[in-house]
Amino acid sequence: MITRDGGYGECLDLMHRLMTYRHEPIHSELMKVRDRYSMLHLDVLILIYHFARICSGAILEIGAFVGGATIATAFGIRDSGQNKRLIAIEPGGSVKHKRLGTRNILRDLERNLTRERVTDLVTLIKGHSFKPETVATVHRVLGSDQVGLLILDADAAKRRDIDCYRDKFIEGAWMVIDDCYGIDANEKITSSRADVDALVAAGLLEPLGFYGWSTWVGRWRGCGG
Ligand SMILES: C[S@@+](CC[C@H](N)C(=O)[O-])C[C@H]1O[C@@H](n2cnc3c(N)ncnc32)[C@H](O)[C@@H]1O
Repeated sequence: MITRDGGYGECLDLMHRLMTYRHEPIHSELMKVRDRYSMLHLDVLILIYHFARICSGAILEIGAFVGGATIATAFGIRDSGQNKRLIAIEPGGSVKHKRLGTRNILRDLERNLTRERVTDLVTLIKGHSFKPETVATVHRVLGSDQVGLLILDADAAKRRDIDCYRDKFIEGAWMVIDDCYGIDANEKITSSRADVDALVAAGLLEPLGFYGWSTWVGRWRGCGG
């Protein structure tokens, strides 16, 4: 865990909350989600579930793949008992992967959302996050709503995606950004991490820690000026 500016208590609270979910039925639900649909670590899916339960405003996911984090988020919304909009952006394609390989990401994503009975909770936008038509659609769907949770797991251009949607972030919005750590750092991790570190240095992101294999967690602090 890393901390800054007295965020120590919040870091510990998050770790503690994560532990308490291990003794609740949602833990085994999310274990199945992770096995069937997700490249993310179980701890990250639990955190995403938690943030989806507690956040205010809408939720934006960039890089849904076949739906692991999307389904964890939808379960969090379901268990919050509140109406929260979840927008998931995914361009589709095919992926070679030992456990989760697919020849048609969008077909499998839609099938998995249906299988887990969360289709009605998700607004799926098919396209690349940075394309002007995608940015316009997200803004249109959000209307006057703001984003209280961002799940960013697409490519290495973290700053690009944040810049596309930062005008919609609530101050203190939860941020879950993957590919920020790795033992054998590759190009994706190096540039993702550089983007996140620069945003932290600029005071736009507040770090709350690393979870799972490579996921950075923190809050948006960019509404001040
Ligand atoms: C690592 S996977 C996401 C894994 C997912 N979070 C999970 O729970 O398993 C990355 C996904 O991002 C998508 N992607 C890549 N570039 C994108 C972009 N610019 N906008 C939206 N999605 C993108 C890819 O098609 C891929 O499905």
